Amino acid sequence: MRIGVPKEIKNHEYRVGLTPASVAELVAAGHEVVVETRAGTGIDFADEAYTRVGAKIAPDAAAVFAGADMIVKVKEPQPQEIALLEPRHTLFTYLHLAADKPQADGLIQSGATCIAYETVTSNSGALPLLKPMSEVAGRMSIQVGAHYLEKEQGGRGELLGGVPGVAPCKVAILGGGVAGINAAQMAVGQRADVTIYDISNERLAELDLHFGSQIKTAYASKAAIAEAVTRSQLVIGAVLVPGAAAPKLVTRDMLKTMMRGSVLVDIAIDQGGCFETSHATTHDDPVYEVDGVIHYCVANMPGAVARTSAFALNNATLPFVLRIANHGAEAAMQADRHLAIGLNVSGGKIRHQAVAEALDLPFEAWAA
Ligand SMILES: NC(=O)c1ccc[n+]([C@@H]2O[C@H](COP(=O)([O-])OP(=O)(O)OC[C@H]3O[C@@H](n4cnc5c(N)ncnc54)[C@H](O)[C@@H]3O)[C@@H](O)[C@H]2O)c1
Repeated sequence: MRIGVPKEIKNHEYRVGLTPASVAELVAAGHEVVVETRAGTGIDFADEAYTRVGAKIAPDAAAVFAGADMIVKVKEPQPQEIALLEPRHTLFTYLHLAADKPQADGLIQSGATCIAYETVTSNSGALPLLKPMSEVAGRMSIQVGAHYLEKEQGGRGELLGGVPGVAPCKVAILGGGVAGINAAQMAVGQRADVTIYDISNERLAELDLHFGSQIKTAYASKAAIAEAVTRSQLVIGAVLVPGAAAPKLVTRDMLKTMMRGSVLVDIAIDQGGCFETSHATTHDDPVYEVDGVIHYCVANMPGAVARTSAFALNNATLPFVLRIANHGAEAAMQADRHLAIGLNVSGGKIRHQAVAEALDLPFEAWAA
């Protein structure tokens, strides 16, 4: 198959759909790969790194789309990219269509087969292509939290792990899923005093077994959260109710009880945020203050560590890219129902029920 990798064009997006190592695997399997010039330069993948493993370099996105049957990207296609899609194309990328009607309309009109990373499932019911970004965001949340606790950044001037003779900071992690457990691992590594709150007793039991005495766990009742925010220097929001807006666990009133210069990191901001006072920020201007509490609410945290994120994403996507390339999208989806659940749009129809419902558009199941 001919596989195309355009340069990402969203503001401050440096990740790339395929790393040179992934291209090498595809070329070894007999496929052709065409990469847009400078697609990876932002994260130190020069064009030569791609040509060395057998890719061709194209001068622009139009040449990539014209010379490829499958397009592998990171972010949802922008209008100028949608205009280049044809019915023969398979598009494999994050789409997040439920809140993006114009994009959905464009993909419907293109006639292309569009498979969204975020709806591909696994045997355990998890979302394996979303997981690496939650891992990155979870781990990053502690390093940004620790940074903004510094006095120069407007924080309390406290070191997360304390020092001998000075107590460590208290870190409350709301939601003990993928992002939450990764945040906890980093916070424990920095010797913070960590408590994870969740409403799943099963999850709390797993966390208890996993961490032993390194952390505390607590059921995420309103009272427990109200108490947690009052005594924690760093609060991480990492809850998820799949398909729904994040519940507002920390209210404006609770915020008033927090210590001045403490820090909230709302990882769940991409689902609307779990603090009442959260609004999405960007890497250009990541924080703001409400009632003396610093809020970090960047909706694409992994973009800050684009090189790590590109590798992590490729580790998860490459097996699927190889299967689509080896067998074609139709046969690959017939053979793997989890990949088929990733199908959002094809033949001008919405193929994912939840996406159709969210957009109030007709749903037509894909027939193998
Ligand atoms: N900001 C970013 O850059 C970024 C990057 C990656 C992921 N995310 C987001 O991070 C969030 C967490 O993702 P994840 O992969 O860890 O999800 P997950 O499904 O693995 O974990 C979510 C956890 O939240 C718990 N939960 C649900 N409702 C709760 C409540 N009311 N109180 C306490 N706990 C509750 C669940 O039981 C679950 O354990 C999602 O919104 C995801 O989209 C954001």
